[in-house]
Formats: sequence, structure tokens, C-alpha cells
Amino acid sequence: MTDTPPPSATSTSTWAAGDYPAMARRLTAVADRVVTAAEVADGTTLLDVGCGTGNAVLAAARRGALATGADPTPELLGLAVERARAEQLPIAWQPAAADGLRGSYDRVVTVFGAMYAPDARRAADALVRCCAPGGRIVSAAWTPDGFMAATNRAASRYLPPPPPGGQPPTRWGDLDVLRALFAPLAVSATVEQVRFEFPSPVAAAEFWVRTAGHLQAERARLIADGSWTALHHDLAAVFTEWNRSGGADIVVEAAYLLAVVDRPLN
Ligand SMILES: C[S@@+](CC[C@H](N)C(=O)[O-])C[C@H]1O[C@@H](n2cnc3c(N)ncnc32)[C@H](O)[C@@H]1O
Repeated sequence: MTDTPPPSATSTSTWAAGDYPAMARRLTAVADRVVTAAEVADGTTLLDVGCGTGNAVLAAARRGALATGADPTPELLGLAVERARAEQLPIAWQPAAADGLRGSYDRVVTVFGAMYAPDARRAADALVRCCAPGGRIVSAAWTPDGFMAATNRAASRYLPPPPPGGQPPTRWGDLDVLRALFAPLAVSATVEQVRFEFPSPVAAAEFWVRTAGHLQAERARLIADGSWTALHHDLAAVFTEWNRSGGADIVVEAAYLLAVVDRPLN
């Protein structure tokens, strides 16, 4: 079965429709991992593409990088700005999608961000364009055969069909696809895991639906046609299927591809 793209995944209003910040708080370990792979030092310039509420760009700034966060969703970018202000981190901002990025940086990172651009080729070209010669691109993206893709498949049955020609975001989690997107640059990658824990399958499904803007955007319709409960039920079943706690609580590992692309000096 193939992973289908959330139909509205690239609409910025959709990203603001759910409680995405609650999900982002569970993804800070991935941001730290990406910034570690980026190997930033004091004064390294870094661009975080699709920075959302700022996990990676803040982590980079804490390590001394001259960091810039870019995101097309004003509500999420606004939260990132507030977090940076609270920590007194001097971060620059670009209210932009991947294909509208400006500037040249030593490091370009993206944590589940560029994968949601509607045109993967344009997004990859933009990351390369913004990466200075001798610089490095680091991407984290959910894998096509992992837990996140399984939840997307379950939810897609309740969503409008994806637009014609729509590309699944998880193609950024496929090393062969990334190699084609970034050729002739070499891509090295590892598959890593992020762990999610919940007290029960029901609690897990509720969290998933509450934090997913593309599901919240369909809430009224799904309640009206009686399928809102079935959506929760199907998602709870996915959590149960992938559960490795051995008990009634939920522990799942969601795989992502951590990819590193080094841009030669010339
Ligand atoms: C799953 S969130 C990841 C946010 C953040 N990087 C994190 O780790 O929590 C996806 C982010 O991609 C952003 N996004 C959506 N379309 C985009 C595009 N075309 N280019 C760049 N970012 C995009 C959304 O606004 C959202 O903030």
C-alpha cells in the first residue's frame, strides 16, 4: 500500500488548524539530532526550513549558530519567535515556504519541513541554492514504510483525495528518492527512531487527531457524516498494531530518515 499525501498538508492555514505545538514538543530530540549532524560551531550560519515552532533553529542558536528560521505558517513562526525572545536568542526569520527562501548559509536543515513542499524537486533545489559551497544540508523525514506513514494511510480514508499528481511527503524519507533529488551531490543517511508514549490507544488516537491540522480541518464534515469516531478507532488500531510496550500502554517507534548532503567547495 502506498502512503498518500495529506491533501492539505501544504496549506499553511491547515498547519495552524490543530495543536501542532503539542506534537512539536514530542519531536525536540529529532531537532537536536539534526543539529548535531549539522556540526554547527560558534558563528556557523544556519537556515532551518519549515522551522514550525522552532525546535531546530533554537537548538542551533543555543549552540552558537547564527540561525535563521523559515516557515510559511505565520501562527507557527510566531510561536518560534516568542520562544526565541523568551530565551533571548538572536534568531533571524523568513516567513517563507521552501521555494521562496533567500540567502546563503553554511548549514541548511529541515526537520519534517521541506517534505511538505508541494514540489519536491523545487524544494530540493532551493535547499541546495541556499547552501553555501562547502556547506551541509541535513534533512529528517518520516520513512514511507514507518509508523507515521501507517497513521497517514489510516487517516487518508477519511480525507478528500489528494490533488492529482500529489507527491507523498514520505518520499523524502526514501534514500533512493533523495539521491535522485540531490544528484549529483552525494547523500548519506541513517534510519533513526523517535519514540512516542501514551497511556492507552484511545489517548494516543485523541492526541494524533488533536494535533493534526489536516484532520482538524475536516472535523465538522466527519462529525456530520458520523465518521469522526471511526477515524479515532482506526488510528487507535494502528497504535495497537505497532505497540511494543507489551502492556496496555502505548510505546511506538516512528522511523525517520536522517540524510546528510555535503556541498563541495566548487
Ligand atoms: C511537521 S511540521 C515541522 C515543524 C518543525 N520543523 C518541527 O520539527 O516541529 C511541518 C512544517 O512545515 C511547514 N511547511 C509547510 N509547507 C511548507 C513548504 N512548502 N516549505 C517549507 N515548509 C513548509 C509547516 O508550516 C510546518 O511548520
